[in-house]
Amino acid sequence: MESLIKQWGGENVIIRFHQPTGAWIFMAIHSTRLGPPVSGGTRMKSYPNTQAALQDAFKLSAAMTSKLALAGIAHGGGKVVIAVPSDLNPQARADLLRDYGALLQQLGGLFLTGPDVGTSPADMDIIAETGDPYVFSRTPEAGGAGDSGPGTAIGVLSAIYVTCKHLFGDTSPAGKRILLQGAGNVGRALIEFLQEAGAEILFSEVDENAVKQFRDELDLQFIPPDEVYKTPCDIFSPSALGGILNEETIPQLKCRAVVGSANNQLAGPEDAERLQERDILYAPDMAVNIGGLMSIIGMETEGWSKAEAFERVSDTVNRTLTQIYALAAAEGINTHKAALRIAKKRLAQAKPQKNSGSLFIE
Ligand code: PHE
Repeated sequence: MESLIKQWGGENVIIRFHQPTGAWIFMAIHSTRLGPPVSGGTRMKSYPNTQAALQDAFKLSAAMTSKLALAGIAHGGGKVVIAVPSDLNPQARADLLRDYGALLQQLGGLFLTGPDVGTSPADMDIIAETGDPYVFSRTPEAGGAGDSGPGTAIGVLSAIYVTCKHLFGDTSPAGKRILLQGAGNVGRALIEFLQEAGAEILFSEVDENAVKQFRDELDLQFIPPDEVYKTPCDIFSPSALGGILNEETIPQLKCRAVVGSANNQLAGPEDAERLQERDILYAPDMAVNIGGLMSIIGMETEGWSKAEAFERVSDTVNRTLTQIYALAAAEGINTHKAALRIAKKRLAQAKPQKNSGSLFIE
């Protein structure tokens, strides 16, 4: 753990051990350059060991800093990982969430959170019992803007348009084969948007109920999880796990581009190079998946309607991804490097944002 902290390069890590459940809460505050506040989702899952959980928090929080900078949002980047035992019962889980809410309360607005892998708007309601008003994406019944999946999916759709334009000269994905990995909150919203746009949709999913629903009710073509990487398609869209673009999977890919919402899709920065060598255009996830956070925060704090939120997300993703593709082409670098370069420049140039009261960097 010590060496992980030394190597990290972020600002602060707050650690709480929840005695009754044996869960660890790791809050990684990667950067307050554009804040405070610092914002980042709350990820809850079981990890093989505590180091893996801390490492995930570190990696994800760094991605948040870049992602917020790219979108020009005046929040610092962070992430919370709650590493839970696999047999947690609902009562104990709720107690843990309330304990975590109390931590957010103690921090007095330094850290703002929303759902991530393993947490839902219903969980945000529980966290808000003690952590209000520092919790986004509560259910509409509890006064929140609800599920962030559709807002994220709108951003992915916009990224698919930009990518189609870049590769095929036309923004429309009509008739293009798009393979989705994951039909969760984001995936299912994306399926709907892509169907409207006339794309040919293939999907892969591990949850049997979701498979039944999409294969049998929507008549979509199902790809078994172990065949997903080698299935030919125009665009591969990962909306599930991180680290899936790696030494093993990249040589199998039969697509022209990767455009999806999962956080940290690259196992390491060298995988961006591997994709480029194979002439596969990679839309960096940090530019693609801002839509959940941006739409929810906009609706809850800026009074945006859902339509306005969707429009702003589409515009932001369109603008940043276009810029990334252009820089990558001009400099002959991979798109991941280009995205980081733009994010770093924004961070370096930003004026101090403390209490600016504005959601966007001036
Ligand atoms: N999971 C979101 C992300 O990674 C976090 C988030 C969602 C924060 C909704 C606020 C509101 O960007």
